[in-house]
Amino acid sequence: MVGPEKDETKMTKLPGNAKPRELKKDIWYVGAQDWDRRLFDSLIPLPDGTSYNAYLIKGSEKTALIDTVNPPMKDVLLDNLDQLDIKRIDYVIFNHAEPDHSGSIREILAKYPEAQAVCTDKCKPMLMDRFMVPEARFKTVADKETISLGNRTLEFIHAPWVHWPETMLTYLREEKILFPCDFFGSHIATTDMFVRDTGQEAEAAKRYYAEIMMPFRFQIQKNLEKIKDYKFDIIAPSHGPIHDKPEYIIKAYNSWAYDEPGNIVVLPYISMHGSTRRMVSYLVDALTRKGISVKQFDLADSDIGKIAMELVDAATIVLGTPTVLIGPHPNVAHAAFLANALKPKAKFVSIIGSYGWGTKAVETLAGMIPNLKVEIIPPVIIKGYPKDADYEALDKLADSIAEKHQAAGLS
Ligand code: FEO
Repeated sequence: MVGPEKDETKMTKLPGNAKPRELKKDIWYVGAQDWDRRLFDSLIPLPDGTSYNAYLIKGSEKTALIDTVNPPMKDVLLDNLDQLDIKRIDYVIFNHAEPDHSGSIREILAKYPEAQAVCTDKCKPMLMDRFMVPEARFKTVADKETISLGNRTLEFIHAPWVHWPETMLTYLREEKILFPCDFFGSHIATTDMFVRDTGQEAEAAKRYYAEIMMPFRFQIQKNLEKIKDYKFDIIAPSHGPIHDKPEYIIKAYNSWAYDEPGNIVVLPYISMHGSTRRMVSYLVDALTRKGISVKQFDLADSDIGKIAMELVDAATIVLGTPTVLIGPHPNVAHAAFLANALKPKAKFVSIIGSYGWGTKAVETLAGMIPNLKVEIIPPVIIKGYPKDADYEALDKLADSIAEKHQAAGLS
């Protein structure tokens, strides 16, 4: 028997929440909270940390584990299973091959030698290639196939491109719980098992959608359509708190994926000697006077996740750049590259900026956004510091943006 003293010692060794928590009878949260992580994929800022949620489901005959955790936190998962005294796992469900969920596969399959790794046929070779797991350990499942745990049934819903090609969702029929892995998730570390801080969750879920799901908006639409007739009492994603009022997140995803953009301009910019900043300030004032919301970001020190989030609803993107070595400032090129990769629903793009003796900034930036199905509104590029004629050009740009928004029914 483990005494309190030994238990306490054990917990101090482990990062994250080292205690399993019961979500419903015999359904346990066994994942890990990563409070201190500040970057995902060496790219995405994590202001609130993140979590790697894994769930253990005991049926009357079989036991299943849904997803694992990021490898540096595998001991939290293994310890949680020990605390529940789990001696046998029959199925380990891999909804997704990305290592933050699948990365503890070798340790889990070694600890539970009877377990089969359950995944889609596209996921199997990805896990074999990445983790060198023998093929004999796998059981692939077709779309809508089920596995019985005795008194409980797992249904597997293939959902490609949320956000890799192999992704699937797992539905626990009797309790109406959806385990969608990344889909409907958010990067938040929290002691709340369920969503309780709705403001924090609303922002984090939108940020997550923007960074991870938005490039696959049309596949998101197909997957939302595919699950629309299912009833969900709970949605338990593999990042962030669990949705025990899931209507909110489904409605939000439908809005982000389907709705027309708003009367909004996102304006990421850089200024080196003040000219571009002056142009940005002037244009922001002019747009504001026309009732357009503007989200202005100085790229010298901006959170790219926040920019991604604002791109979800923006109708227009205006890039502001000085000229560096004939081209755009590298930070602005980076922002253009990201916007192109994220494929937001913006309908219009323009560029403003300045140069000293010559520039090809507009040509370079315009060539970097082939994925954006946008109309380019004539840029305003000036020599030196803005003068009267330049301010007039910015007023005209503001007029054009307002007219385009109005004509598109966005204002
Ligand atoms: Fe959270 Fe795509 O992994």
